[in-house]
This record gives sequence, structure tokens and C-alpha cells, in this order.
Amino acid sequence: MKYKALITRALPDAAQQKLSEVFDLVINPHDRALTHDEIILQIADCDALICLLTDTIDKAVIDAAPRLKAICNYAVGYNNIDVEYATAKGIVVCNTPGVLTESTADLAWALLMSAARRIVEGDQMMRRGEFPGWEPLMLLGNDVWGKTIGIIGMGRIGQAMARRAGGFGMKVLYSGSAAKALDFPATYCDLDSLLQQSDFISIHAPLTVQTRHMIGTPQFEQMKDTAVLINTARGAIINEAELVLALQNKTISAAGLDVYEREPALAQGLAALPNVVLAPHIGSASIDTRTRMAIMTAENAIAVILGQEPIARVN
Ligand code: DGY
Repeated sequence: MKYKALITRALPDAAQQKLSEVFDLVINPHDRALTHDEIILQIADCDALICLLTDTIDKAVIDAAPRLKAICNYAVGYNNIDVEYATAKGIVVCNTPGVLTESTADLAWALLMSAARRIVEGDQMMRRGEFPGWEPLMLLGNDVWGKTIGIIGMGRIGQAMARRAGGFGMKVLYSGSAAKALDFPATYCDLDSLLQQSDFISIHAPLTVQTRHMIGTPQFEQMKDTAVLINTARGAIINEAELVLALQNKTISAAGLDVYEREPALAQGLAALPNVVLAPHIGSASIDTRTRMAIMTAENAIAVILGQEPIARVN
């Protein structure tokens, strides 16, 4: 008898094929996310759940699936899952670390360069037919090379971000729970020092009770007024309404965001600001990376069901 798995949104074919060798698959037929109620309805007799970072996997979902053995998130972040409750129920929770590290760091750098050098404002000017020709004071931005970058959270993606900074001759500061043995030059410091000394600040921490709103008005007030803030981690690490004020008042110079506090909604006023570059949560969105993530998610689910150790478990 085959096991049964619910896939809350269609994945790349290679992963679904792998899963179908072990599972009868229930795949969301819609080109939209399943609602919480739909997940509860579909999961009743499933042994594994393959879900997205946008699915809230809480007690209600877990209680609706008495046979559930594995919750496999198609993401490295897993703040959407009640891991504590899953653990209490003996359910293994898996994620996809490592395979999206470089793509996410690439995207963070794309945002950093775009925000610093005002690429989006320039693009809009060109498309509107408003380029007046070369001008001495047009669209002056911030230099990147030789500046100081502060990395909040020196995990895999933070390190990939910092390595790229070496190519721009930047000084790297980082904060987090402890100093790390790194194979590139970087200085560990407390968050306050990082905020005060950095020209660019890039967030690479997980969203937890401790990191929710760790960046808000008091932190913006410590930053340089030329600082550029980048977030490709989770939106709720920043108080987004307070970021809007900081950008409006020029408390900081600019921001580049891939993630938002209440996705897909944006804080009021954010989209009207010229000094923010907005990407639609695409840090891992390359064909290769999303395929690698999907295969890892499938392999995690299969391993748990077959009683083997998955590639990446979080509990
Ligand atoms: C993740 O994996 O957590 C990213 O936010 C999406 O790939």
C-alpha cells in the first residue's frame, strides 16, 4: 500500500515524480494557494504534507491529520509551522537549507546595488521618456565599493552575502548570537555598533519571537542617514510601518526589500516611495534553485516515511 501526501501547490515535475514513487499524491489543482480550511479538509488521511512558507501549519492543521509523520516545507524558513506542536505529536519537520543560499545572496546584492545606485528610479525615468541627457547632478546615489556592510545573522546566506562584499573591497561587520569561525575577514559586534557603523545593512536572520520587529524606529535612529537597508529574510523582522516613516523622513537613505510583514500586502505608503526597491519575494526564484529545493523537499518526505534520516530536519 502506498502512503499518501498532500502537496499544497504544484512543484517542479522532477520532485512530483520522485514523490509519486512512494506516495499517492493529492495536489492542489488550483493556480492559487489553498486556504487553511482547504488544507484541513484535504489532509485528513495523509502521511506527509509538502507545504509552502505561505501555508499556516498550526495546531488545527496538525490535529486534522492523525496519520501525519512528516511536514516538509518547500523553503528554508519555517516560521509558518508550529514546530513545537509538531514535535509534541512526533511529526518530523523538514526544510531546504543550503540549496538556495547563493541565489538568495545574489538577489540581496541585486537589491543593494539597485537601491544604492537608484536603478529603478532611472529605469522609470527612461520608460517615461524623461531622460534629459547626461547631467552632473542627476540620480546621484551611494557608492558601494570600499564601504562597510553590516550583516545581521551570519548563517549560510549571511556568509554568502559577506563573501560577495569582499569583491567590492568592503569591510564586513556582523551581529548574531555568537562570533563564528569564518574563512573571510569579518568583525563580530553587537547590533547597536553594527547599526551605527554600517553603510549597508543586510538582514539574514530567521523570524522568531526574538527577531520579530527587531528593526524599528529606535534602530533606524541609530543608523547613518546615508544607510541602505536590505531584507531578504522575513518581512516581520522589520516594523514595516516604521520603515516607511524612516524612508519618508530620510532617517535612512534607502531600502531594498524582497519580503514584507503582511505578504502580499505592503505597509501603507511603501509603494509610493522612490527610495525603496521592491521585489516580490523572489530570493530563491531561479529555475535551478527552485528545482533543487523541490527535490530536497521530496527527498525529505520520502526519507521520513521510510524511517530514514531526512537531509534537513528542524526538530
Ligand atoms: C525560504 O526558503 O525561506 C525563502 O523565503 C523562499 O525560498
